[in-house]
Amino acid sequence: MAVVMRRLGSLGRGLWTRQSSKAKPFSTASKVSEKSAASPGELVIEREKKFSAHNYQPVPVALSRGEGIFVWDVEGKRYFDFLSGYSAVNQGHRHPKIMAALSEQASKLTLTSRAFYNDVLGEFAECMSKMLGYDKMLPSNTGVEAVETAVKLSRRWGYDVKGIPTNQAKIYFVEGNFHGRSMTAVSASTDPESYGGYGPYLPGIHKIPFDDLDALEEACSDPNTCSFIVEPIQGENGVVLPTDGYLRGVRDVCSRHNVLFVSDEVQCGLGRAGRMLAVDHEGVRPDVVILGKSLSGGLFPVSCVLADDEVMLTIKPGQHGSTFGGSPLAGRVAIASMEVLREEGMVENAAAMEGVLRRELSQLDPSVVHTLRGRGLFFAIVITPIPGFTAWDVCLKLRDHGLLAKPTHDDIIRLAPPLIITEEQLVEACGIVKSVINRETD
Ligand SMILES: Cc1ncc(COP(=O)(O)O)c(C=O)c1O
Repeated sequence: MAVVMRRLGSLGRGLWTRQSSKAKPFSTASKVSEKSAASPGELVIEREKKFSAHNYQPVPVALSRGEGIFVWDVEGKRYFDFLSGYSAVNQGHRHPKIMAALSEQASKLTLTSRAFYNDVLGEFAECMSKMLGYDKMLPSNTGVEAVETAVKLSRRWGYDVKGIPTNQAKIYFVEGNFHGRSMTAVSASTDPESYGGYGPYLPGIHKIPFDDLDALEEACSDPNTCSFIVEPIQGENGVVLPTDGYLRGVRDVCSRHNVLFVSDEVQCGLGRAGRMLAVDHEGVRPDVVILGKSLSGGLFPVSCVLADDEVMLTIKPGQHGSTFGGSPLAGRVAIASMEVLREEGMVENAAAMEGVLRRELSQLDPSVVHTLRGRGLFFAIVITPIPGFTAWDVCLKLRDHGLLAKPTHDDIIRLAPPLIITEEQLVEACGIVKSVINRETD
């Protein structure tokens, strides 16, 4: 890399320096502060902070390796991974079958763009359509892109099939949602951190309370409403579950008013909640399903939307797409990711481990923990935060004792290990959570 950069630099004063007077030679080996007495982990963190935008606040740990349910930091310390890349690593880190699919396809053909057919996309689409029971799939890369696809499909269907007057379509979202970071997702957000300062927002986006069927009834009775987009379990909001029967109610209201029910299963789907889709807990079939994260096996971004022809075929050639979406590399990775979920019984394991998690975490100090909620291997501990013992402080202590989790808000710690975790490992990990929350340790 350094050689390439030097060569580039020698071409007529360099491609770099022409663009910006701030450009400097780069070497992967360079250190941020050569004289610093900082540890290797601190150096990693210092460098990222110096050169990478500050749009996240990571738990201070510098990781360099992962395998199965564990990750290791640059100094070789091992941790239970209880975030799983926000559920992108449901199959565990570097699953051998997904790795093999990636490297085999990488040695043959990686990207064609959709200007041509490739010999993987059809197989990927058939795999997804058959496994999830929809006519067709539309591929993309990240979760938020798939959300955009669902929004565009909703509007096209609203105009072309439902007959909503031009530019009048309304889409309803719920309060507390998280659908990603695009301007559409941000326009739909009610979280001041995500939403604030990014206006003007996309028109035609409306919000109602979560878990409120009366509000949905009113929203859907507007003839210009084309779709209702909802996470069956709100992940980023702190694993918030609706009351039993809500999703059945949503299906009923949407069907009666000819409104599309769109389920964002990017985080809670593909086994995380102990079923293939989180909506399966109520036996309902949405009109549109959005998937991402663990469709990638944690290796290579893949997302998609599933729908039947009446919805999917409203988008015609040239009306939507993505250069990387549907690449052979992504397709092979996604097929392998779906296969290992099924072959290794990961969805069933998540369902079985729910009981273990509940049993172990029932021993948490009730004066600290006021709510424990979740499904499958998707749980949140809600604490009563006090100065020096907020969710952030708890996560730092968990890190010190070898378990990585990320706080949401000030009071919620989400627990979401890879779906391959065994009972013995889960009991051991819960032991760490108990000792920290019950303050049995420093
Ligand atoms: C429910 C849900 N939808 C969409 C997204 C956006 O996915 P991505 O970050 O891959 O764009 C997320 C990410 O956390 C999510 O939780």
